[in-house]
Amino acid sequence: MKALGRLRLGINIDHVATIRNARGGELPDPLRAALLAEAAGADGITAHLREDRRHIRDADIEALMAGISIPLNFECAATPEMLEIALRHKPHAACLVPEKREERTTEGGLDVAGDEKHLAGVVAAMRDAGIRVSMFIGHEARQIEASARIGAAVVELHTGRYCDLTAEGKLDAAAVEFEALRVGAAHAHSLGLEVHMGHGLDFETAAQVACFPEVMELNIGHFLIGEAVFRGLGPSIEEMRRRMDLARADMG
Ligand code: PXP
Repeated sequence: MKALGRLRLGINIDHVATIRNARGGELPDPLRAALLAEAAGADGITAHLREDRRHIRDADIEALMAGISIPLNFECAATPEMLEIALRHKPHAACLVPEKREERTTEGGLDVAGDEKHLAGVVAAMRDAGIRVSMFIGHEARQIEASARIGAAVVELHTGRYCDLTAEGKLDAAAVEFEALRVGAAHAHSLGLEVHMGHGLDFETAAQVACFPEVMELNIGHFLIGEAVFRGLGPSIEEMRRRMDLARADMG
């Protein structure tokens, strides 16, 4: 069997900013976390600039663009404001996500099929500026196919439901969701899309989805920022890296 390539690990630092904002002031500094992540072997940094600026702020994006050496994945809603910010900074990548003010985190995937014309315009404007655009979607074929039609380079498949079902011990339902992710990853790959996955992943679930051969990158935030309380951010990321590499080696 052909050995699988190295799986990239993107670290989402939003919740370092959440902790900072709980007290006001400047600490802990998301840029410092990003630099630590870089030193611990992260392949990229993700930061979600929400409309309500509940965690990452505009100044964080500026600091990250100036301060990190690995690629920045700018996560945002497909709004005129966010498009303008993306075009000003020209990050390596942008991940388009749905956004609701009342949600605690990004709850579902983007409805690309239902908003194709608008999203095609945003993708084209970003792509023309040299930004690699990713659509954060569920594993449904219609969303994957719409993402390919509008010229996205990447789809990030939402693993939140799989992770929630696993954590709740609903293992039969989790297995169904896992299979749907597997089929979705293969379908996206067959259409020429690069496949990423993220949301809710921990050591165990990340190792499971690392086994999908089409997946090139995992984006992980909340679990690792929480784990950092106990073992430090660098060691938490190194352990995630180790488990992802092990999962891939077992498949090779
Ligand atoms: N990928 C995307 C597109 C996300 O919106 C998020 C959450 O902000 C993540 C990955 C990371 O999810 P988590 O923080 O649950 O690891």
